[in-house]
This record gives sequence, structure tokens and C-alpha cells, in this order.
Amino acid sequence: MTLTDGHRPGATEDVRLRVIDVSAAEQRLTGQVVRTPVRRLPWLERRVGFPVYAKLELQQHTGSFKFRGALNTVLAGLRGPIIAASAGNHGLAVAEVARRLRRPANICIPVTASRLKRERILATGAGLIEHGNSLEQATAHARMLAGEQGWYFISPYNDPHMIAGAATIALEVLDEVEDVEAMIAPVGGGGLLSGLAVGAGTRRPGVRMFGCEPERYRSMSASIAARDIVRVVHQPTLADGLAVNLDADSLTYPLIRDRVESIVPLTEEELAAGTLALLVHESLLVEPAGAAAVIACLRLAQAGALRGPVVLPLCGGNVHHTTLSRIERYPYADDDLVRLLDLRGRTVGELPVSRALRMEPSDTGEPLADAPDARDDQDAQVRSWLSRVDEVLAELEEYTDYCARAEVLVNADVVKQVRVDCELVAQRLAGVLGRGGEKADPAEAVRAEIVVRHAATVVASAQAAFDWCAPSHAQATVGQFFDVGAQDSPGANYERYESAAVARVESQLTEVLGLDPERHATTATSSGMASYALIEAFLLRHRLRPGDTVLLAPYVYFEAAEQLCSLTSTHTVTARSYSVDGLVEDILRHRPRCLFVDPVANTAQQRLVDLPGLVQALSEVVTEPITLVVDGTMAPAALSGLLLDSPPPVEVLYYESCSKYLQLGMDAGMAGLVAAKVELRPALDRLRRNTGSILYRHNAQLFPRYDRAFFGRRMRRICGNAATVARTLLARPEVAAVADVVHPASGEHPDDAIARTLPYAGGCVTFRLHDSGANHRDQLEALIEHMLDRARRRGLHLTKGVSFGFNTPRISAAASMAEDGAPFLRLYAGDRSAEQVSLLARVVGDAIAAAG
Ligand SMILES: Cc1ncc(COP(=O)(O)O)c(C=O)c1O
Repeated sequence: MTLTDGHRPGATEDVRLRVIDVSAAEQRLTGQVVRTPVRRLPWLERRVGFPVYAKLELQQHTGSFKFRGALNTVLAGLRGPIIAASAGNHGLAVAEVARRLRRPANICIPVTASRLKRERILATGAGLIEHGNSLEQATAHARMLAGEQGWYFISPYNDPHMIAGAATIALEVLDEVEDVEAMIAPVGGGGLLSGLAVGAGTRRPGVRMFGCEPERYRSMSASIAARDIVRVVHQPTLADGLAVNLDADSLTYPLIRDRVESIVPLTEEELAAGTLALLVHESLLVEPAGAAAVIACLRLAQAGALRGPVVLPLCGGNVHHTTLSRIERYPYADDDLVRLLDLRGRTVGELPVSRALRMEPSDTGEPLADAPDARDDQDAQVRSWLSRVDEVLAELEEYTDYCARAEVLVNADVVKQVRVDCELVAQRLAGVLGRGGEKADPAEAVRAEIVVRHAATVVASAQAAFDWCAPSHAQATVGQFFDVGAQDSPGANYERYESAAVARVESQLTEVLGLDPERHATTATSSGMASYALIEAFLLRHRLRPGDTVLLAPYVYFEAAEQLCSLTSTHTVTARSYSVDGLVEDILRHRPRCLFVDPVANTAQQRLVDLPGLVQALSEVVTEPITLVVDGTMAPAALSGLLLDSPPPVEVLYYESCSKYLQLGMDAGMAGLVAAKVELRPALDRLRRNTGSILYRHNAQLFPRYDRAFFGRRMRRICGNAATVARTLLARPEVAAVADVVHPASGEHPDDAIARTLPYAGGCVTFRLHDSGANHRDQLEALIEHMLDRARRRGLHLTKGVSFGFNTPRISAAASMAEDGAPFLRLYAGDRSAEQVSLLARVVGDAIAAAG
């Protein structure tokens, strides 16, 4: 399938190639075309084992990507009347561009073009000329008319401006998706694929390019095989937009020959299945040409040619309903396709429309191309605390004002003191703005952290100085409140009963986790274990009955496991395997009422559980209600609203310790969260009140403010740093000889495919020494001392500690807190500069190698 045999990449000479001006196209099209959304395809990800992003170009003006090229061509300076020849989408795009820019246009189409496209072209007001049985004949006619009349002929693909228009798709995707390994696009004349290759080349030249073609119309791959442009015999295909024979001077031919790795041929059954799969799973109506890449992705993954993440531009949505009914009735026989379509045991007519609910919420956060680094994010935190100081100063004004009017006693000295403290803190924060970076001096980052941490405590104490734990809402002379707004609130304000500060943290966490506040509730607690306790209280009262079984994954956080195993009314069973199949086997055998799972096990092996796969499998096999409890602390945000939305009999409860990754390197206060369906909110609120597991106001006020994009960037850095350390050490034979080095995203983990589906695979690298005697606590402690000593001498910031999620890397003999766990070394890589990360890898690697 390799296309480049005999050709040097980049050996294209055509001068027109130099005219492909991607940045000019980007400038012309910004704001003029739809910046189409990018969406994950989880049902395909489960089949291929890596992230798949679909770029929804079917939502472009005129329903296809062609609008970009057509507009770019006309805006590039074209004057006078226009003519285009097209099998449909291109004609529609040119007609619409002409309408918008008030240019006269005629569109020439073959009589075989789809009815829908013909009708839509007519609706724009453009002229329509039907000629010939194929695009070639229509094109020849259009060129002839152009020559005779002096009209400008716009080729659907053989034009530098058309190609540059398509290139802007790649720019948009690469702005939003990190680590793209490959793009796969359908090939007719090759304008889209060439454009993507050129566009990706300007931003990330390493992105691999693949194409796909109808088996019935392999014009591009036949030409490449023949090393010259050849014609193929016209055969009708569902992908009518791809039924194109190349112009003899086609620009796209050398571009694809030189830059594309392979072109996958697709049968009519495959083209139909791609279309139906997007309809079934995503409720997207994509034309077969646009859906072709879905199946090409499946085939390339099966052949081991891809590891992902992969981008598929779903490039057009213009399909007539008669074609659609053929696709629905297609006699699907290929097993892979039947599985992809989820057709087993059903007829197509019974396909549940609710499949559309299986869309992953977009996890792209902000565009990554200009994503701030740790330094910018630290500045953002400094600014956030500066504005919190301003808030407190404003509240202080309001408070003293209110007290004066309501004749409530105020201690003016304390008010003055608090004001001075806040003003001083504001000055200090301003002093570290812009200096938080550590490129020059890592100590600067630490100094800024201390200033931020101090600011947090001053802000929280300023409020606490005036506000009693149970502020009353009506005052007679004595002030025991600070929040003037709360003066109107009825009822008893009691610390354990919610507060505005806790509600604010909860709505922040809902946004950070990407949940929908209409459907999901986030409950803030005082720690990760308080979240566990809340869930346990809920299960004991609302779910578990005496004699029920609780199944635990082979590893569940030891404190939770200890609590569960000591319940006397239920049986606890530990599963034998982390795999979905193994867990399902144990579920069928033990019929548990509850199942506890940590997506990343806090053990030396860091085994993963495929949560979406597990929920899917449970929904297929269990008939009795089952509650799946997930502790996402090690893999933060390892939850999607989709899991919480699982329909009965499967119910998902999620919890996480916010004292870990969520608190941005500040352990000024602990916190935890429980996420569940919104219907459970009243029960969880009541239990949180009664068990005293609430996040207390003081800690809520210490909680840093940030959003999902900020959290995503930080976690990507942390996870990336850990993966870098692991990969560096795996590549050092003297380290590998002494210890197993594990990180889920190192590329060498047994659960690599699952790791790729997690938003962040954690920040901990674990080491298990091959000499089993060396995994003893005393030996590991000695090794840690040795590492800290090396770190000190080499200027590396490293501390000893069991926790993780802070900015500074930490090393510990993990499992040291669990009485019966076998200890191992756990390194948390931190959120530090590339220089510190590589120094970290060197220091840790040297110490481990020396231990051998
Ligand atoms: C997997 C896991 N779950 C829960 C917790 C408990 O969280 P917290 O310390 O916030 O109570 C921890 C703590 O390290 C943990 O590692």
C-alpha cells in the first residue's frame, strides 16, 4: 500500500504548488466559513483502541468542505462570471459563493449527479447545465463554455486556491487536538487530502496522511501505481462525490503521491456501513464519501498501521433520502461492520435513535496551538487570587457600611488590619506576576507558589475573622456575619448545611469535569475519603441489603477497601482480573449489587480498567440493578457525563479526591467530590449534612479558581511529564536492567489502548526493582535518601511525599501507608519545566541504575 516507492518525498516540481498559500486562505476564510466542531467517536474508539476525532465539515455552509475552497478561489481576486463543473458539492459551494458575492455563475453537472445536489444548486439562483454521463464529460463541456464565453472555470480540486481552502481544515483541527498522529480523508480528485497534507505540513509536518477511495473508482491509487495519471472505467458508487477521474495535469497527483502513506480501497458495503454507523451512533447524516474515512480508520487499525489519535474530516452531508434508504437496507454481511453498527440481534429498522446519546462531550478545551505553558498558568492563578483580594476588599466596604446603617457593632481595628493585610498581599501578588516562570530559575516558581498560598489563607481568614460558623441572618447590635447578601437568607445558616462558597466550588467542579448541571450533580466534600464515606452511607441506606455482595476490582484504594471489607452486613469479593471480560465473568458468578473500580490502580503495575467498555458490557449482561462506584483520584476527570447517564439497571457513582490533582499544587485545604445523576442530589445532600462530610466554608474559600481548559492544560503537562520521564528511563538499559518502569501513557504499558481513552493517564511513574529483596521499605527509603541527595547537588526540585498533584515532583515508597501492600517506588513527575523534567529523569535514573 506504500505510495512513495520510487519517489522522494517533496520531489514535486509543479510551479503551481508554490501558489498554494495556506496562510492567505486562513486570513480570507476566518469569520467567513463555519469553524466546524470536532467530536470524539467513542464507539469507533472502542473498536480501534485510540482516540478518534471527527471534524464535522458536513456542518460547513452548503453541507461540505468545498465551500472553503470555492470562497478562497473567488476571494483570491477572481473577477467576472464563473463556471464550475461538479458532481454536486463543488457546484453547490460555487453557486452559493457566487450568490453571496453577487457574481453570475453557471454550474455544469452530469445527468447522473444526485437529485438532491441538483435541487440545492437551483435553489441558490445559479444557472444549471446538465451535460454528459460523467464528471469528465461535464467538465469538458464547462471548459469549452469557459473558453468560448470568457468565464472563469473553477476546478473542484485542480486549483491551488481550492487546495489551500481545504488546508484550513487541518489548521483548525491542529489548533484543537493535541498529538494528532494521522489524518484520513476520502479521495476523489484529491483536493481534500492534498489540502490536509499541505495544511498539516505548515503546522505539524510529522502528522501522517492516509486516503481512502471506493474500490469501484480507484483513480488516484491506480495513477500512483502506474506512475502516471490513468483513467479508470466509470462504475456507479454510493460515494458519488468520489467518482472522479483526474485531470492530466492534476496538482493533487504529485502532492498525494509524495505525502500520503497509503490509500485504502473500500467496498460499497463498507461505504454504506460508514454512513449508517455515523447515523446510528452519532445521529449524523454524512454522505457516503464523507463517511468513508470511518471504515478506513477501522481497517488501518486492524492492520496495525495506526496507533492514534486520528482525525477524520466528515467532509459532506448532502445525501438524498433515497440513497439513505438503500444504505439502511443494505444486506450487511461483514462481521466487523455488523459489530460496528451494533446490529446483532436487531434489524436495522429497530435501531435505537438514542444511540446519539453516545457522543463524548468535547474534551478539547482551548485551542492548543497557543496554549499557555506552566508559567502562563501560574500567572493566571496569581491574577485569580488578586481578584479574590479585590472581592474581599469590596465585601469589607459593604460590611462596614451595612453595620453603620444597621447599628451593628464593628471592631474598626480588625477591619483596618484585614484591609492592610489584603493590600499587602495584593502588592506581593503583583510582584510575582510574570516571574512565576522557571525557565531561568526554578526557585522563582516556588517563591511565587508561596506568595499564592499565603494569599489564599489571607483571603479565607479575612472572611473567617468576621463570619461565625453559624452566621445568623438577623442581627441585634452584634455582628456575627460577613456576607451581607446572606443577611436575607431565611433558616439557620449552619456550617454543615451548605454555603454559598461550597455551592460556588461545586459549580466550578461541574464545569471542570465537563458535566451538565441539568443532568449531573457535583457534591463537594471535605476530602476524598469523605466522598467515599458519603457514597458508602448512600449505598447502605438506598442500595445494599443485608447479604448482598460487593465486588471490588483487584485493586481499590486501600482505605476504601478496608471500610468495605469490614462491613458486616454484606459480602465482599475481590475480582481476579482488571479486564472487562474478567470483571464481567466475576459479576455473572457473584451477582454483586455494587462494584468498586479505580480506573488506574495505585500499584506498581498501574493496571487500568476500561470504564466505558465496562459500563457497556454491564448494560449488556446484567438484568438486576448494579451500582458501579468509580474512584477517579489517580486518573482525574476519568469520567464522562455519558457514564453517569448510563440507563438502568446500571448506575454510576463517581468520586475523586480534590486534594490531589484538582488543587493545583496547593494543599492549603483538603477536598473531595462526588458526581452522580442529579436525581440523587437530595439524598446525597441530606447524607452529607448528617455525616458531616461537607466541604467546610474555610476550605471552600481556599479552593483555587480555574476552569476546564486550565485544568486540562495542567493535567496534559503533568501526564506528559510523567510519560516523558518513563520513556526516558525505559530507553536506558542500565535502568531497565534494575527496575520495571511504568506509566500508563509511556507507550509500553499492557493497557496502552485503555490509557489512550483516558483524558489524562495520571502523573505517577512507578518502579519495581527486579531484585525482590530490594522492594523492602527500608531499602526503598535509603534509595529515596540517595535520590534526594543527588537532587540537592544537581539543582533539582524534588521532595519526598506520598501525595501527588502538586507542582513539585515527589517520590515515595508507596503502599507504605497500607499495612499489607508490597512497597514500590512511586515518583510523581510534577508540573515543571522541560529542563527540570529531564533533570528529574536523569537524577532518578542514575540513582536507580546505581542501586543495581
Ligand atoms: C485512589 C485514592 N482514592 C482516594 C484517596 C483519598 O483521598 P483523600 O486523601 O483526599 O481523602 C486517595 C488518597 O491518596 C487515593 O489515592
